[in-house]
Amino acid sequence: MSKIRINPVTGAIGAEITGLDVNNMSAADEAVLESAFHEHLVVCIRDQKMDAATLLALTNRLGGVGETPYLGGLPEFPDVVPVIKEATEKSHHTFGAGWHTDFTFQPSPPSRTLLYAVDVPAVGGDTLYCNLQAAYQRLSPGLARLLESLTAVHSAVRSYGPKATLKDHMENMTITNEADEPEEMEHPVITVHPVTQRKSLWINPVYTIRFKDMTEAESQPLLNYLNNLAVSPSLTCRIKWQPGTLTMWDNRCTQHCATSDYQGYRREMLRTTVAGDAPRSAKTVH
Ligand code: SIN
Repeated sequence: MSKIRINPVTGAIGAEITGLDVNNMSAADEAVLESAFHEHLVVCIRDQKMDAATLLALTNRLGGVGETPYLGGLPEFPDVVPVIKEATEKSHHTFGAGWHTDFTFQPSPPSRTLLYAVDVPAVGGDTLYCNLQAAYQRLSPGLARLLESLTAVHSAVRSYGPKATLKDHMENMTITNEADEPEEMEHPVITVHPVTQRKSLWINPVYTIRFKDMTEAESQPLLNYLNNLAVSPSLTCRIKWQPGTLTMWDNRCTQHCATSDYQGYRREMLRTTVAGDAPRSAKTVH
């Protein structure tokens, strides 16, 4: 009988999984994991023994690595990014603070991100998640119809543009800014999940800079409304890390935010992304 246990973290998003060894999964185990992933969008798998090689092997098993721009990886494993904050760092700012969805400025952003905890602070350093499919469900029919007709413009400018200061706060990560203004990328505002066919709001405060054919000033009030809706407490969960926790999130329908509340403590994570497809518009799906 399967020993896998799946316990929802909140009513909105996230499940904690125990009794699973991701390095030795049978096809049946993987089917259970995938089903929990599509139901809960964020799965937090406890007590895993992983390193860069096994994390990469799992990432390949789940669909192959995505392209990681701007962030330096491990010398032997360039697709594995060490997310490190040392106890001695001057800035309290942690990598990934601020609600976002990973790399939405890419033509085909990652489908999933995997984050493995090597070393965690005694307290703090949690990661928060929100459910963008549930946010879509909260829209009025009129606003949902309007948003289905809109395209959003995404850019890395705020984090990795020539004037971005994120890298100045990360003493122990390798971050390279774009020398020129980064290219802009257009994606539908309402997308359809390629596996579950569920509709999702798909904007985020870090990379979505405006709606197509509108100015930033015109776009920002509606983007603010939508980003605030997305992170309503009833649409979120909070993952508390332990060494050996592996969390995997669905980048096609969630935002996440790391908390900068552990200055003076060390935190080390290993991060990979699974390659994704270009987001599909909900316009043609009724
Ligand atoms: C990330 O945004 O990819 C990192 C999140 C975290 O370190 O908690």
